[in-house]
Amino acid sequence: MSMILTIADLKDLARRRVPKMFFDYADSGGWTESTYRANEEDFQKIKFRQRVLVDMSNRSLESTMIGEKVAMPVALAPTGMTGMQHPNGEMLAAQAAEEFGVPFTLSTMSICSIEDVASVTKKPFWFQLYVLRDKDFVLSLIDRAKAAKCSALVLTLDLQILGQRHKDIRNGLSAPPRFTPKHIWQVASRPGWCVGMAGTKRRTFRNIVGHAKGVGDLTSLSSWTTEQFDPHLSWKDVAWIKERWGGKLILKGILDKQDALMAAKTGADAIIVSNHGGRQLDGAPSSISVLEEIADAVGDTIEVHMDGGIRSGQDVLKALCLGAKGTYIGRPFLYGLGALGKDGVTKALEIIRKEMDITLALCGKRLVTEMGKDQLRR
Ligand SMILES: Cc1cc2nc3c(=O)[nH]c(=O)nc-3n(C[C@H](O)[C@H](O)[C@H](O)COP(=O)(O)O)c2cc1C
Repeated sequence: MSMILTIADLKDLARRRVPKMFFDYADSGGWTESTYRANEEDFQKIKFRQRVLVDMSNRSLESTMIGEKVAMPVALAPTGMTGMQHPNGEMLAAQAAEEFGVPFTLSTMSICSIEDVASVTKKPFWFQLYVLRDKDFVLSLIDRAKAAKCSALVLTLDLQILGQRHKDIRNGLSAPPRFTPKHIWQVASRPGWCVGMAGTKRRTFRNIVGHAKGVGDLTSLSSWTTEQFDPHLSWKDVAWIKERWGGKLILKGILDKQDALMAAKTGADAIIVSNHGGRQLDGAPSSISVLEEIADAVGDTIEVHMDGGIRSGQDVLKALCLGAKGTYIGRPFLYGLGALGKDGVTKALEIIRKEMDITLALCGKRLVTEMGKDQLRR
């Protein structure tokens, strides 16, 4: 554990511990993966201004996201099938986030259910909603999130049709895993994972199975998504979802200035500048490359968050400098989880915190909330 110094170290370990089809599910993007790569690469082009002889004592990374106090402005992004990276994955990641003091967002497509996560946490978590054709089921999901005292609803806008990820098709991805010889080999070669999985009953989409009409099991995520995700979703729908939910609402998947302005008009509390981690529209720009123009366009009318490609605390600070009030990590926490379970998620957060703290000091700032365009070289 002491030699795990970077998110890349956690990724290497996860690759060795998680069955290939699930590791690949995390480590993949749409089609050529050009947007997935750009998300990470474009951060490298941004440079900080180094400042010296500035008092750097008493530093703080504390901030707020949608009015909630956070130990650092880094939430865990909603990720589907997290409970396949590690047994009970969503419950463990939520606990790690709670102990660290950052928000955890549970995906609609999670393995552990809203109720499972609520049963092991004390503070409210956030719930991410996909809008499906079965409106009764969507309403029941919103009501279940309310009953679990979730403090924000994250409405994902960029997956009404599933982008194609070649690795998932080649691997025959499914949850629970299928038992062809290839899958048996992939799973059997990760004995620690197998033992853990044998010890949990949480191996399918527990928000859905047994709750949505006619869904007994989900063997193919992509065929279910094709049938169930509602391609008619439009800006008008945001109003009834907002009304039914009645709490803080975050709109996820904005990548265009025009859409950001529309989102601000809905009265939502925040937008997430995001391309779904490069998993949807391959050929779309990286999130970090469009963040500034979107933040400038909406100004103070709506809080701006971003995700995509964050692999270090430095990346978080760059996003803050370019106008984000908060950020999210997807793969970094999944790699931590796959590598070392709950401790790995904590480790991912600690790595990011340390990198943020040292960078903040070397940029001559004491408060993370002071980071702005001035701290970048341009
Ligand atoms: C394995 C995986 C599953 C995901 N599942 C969801 C999901 O169910 N709902 C959603 O809104 N976003 C989902 N996302 C997108 C993330 O919320 C987030 O936008 C993305 O991971 C950020 O990029 P990063 O992984 O580079 O940090 C998923 C991402 C990954 C990697």
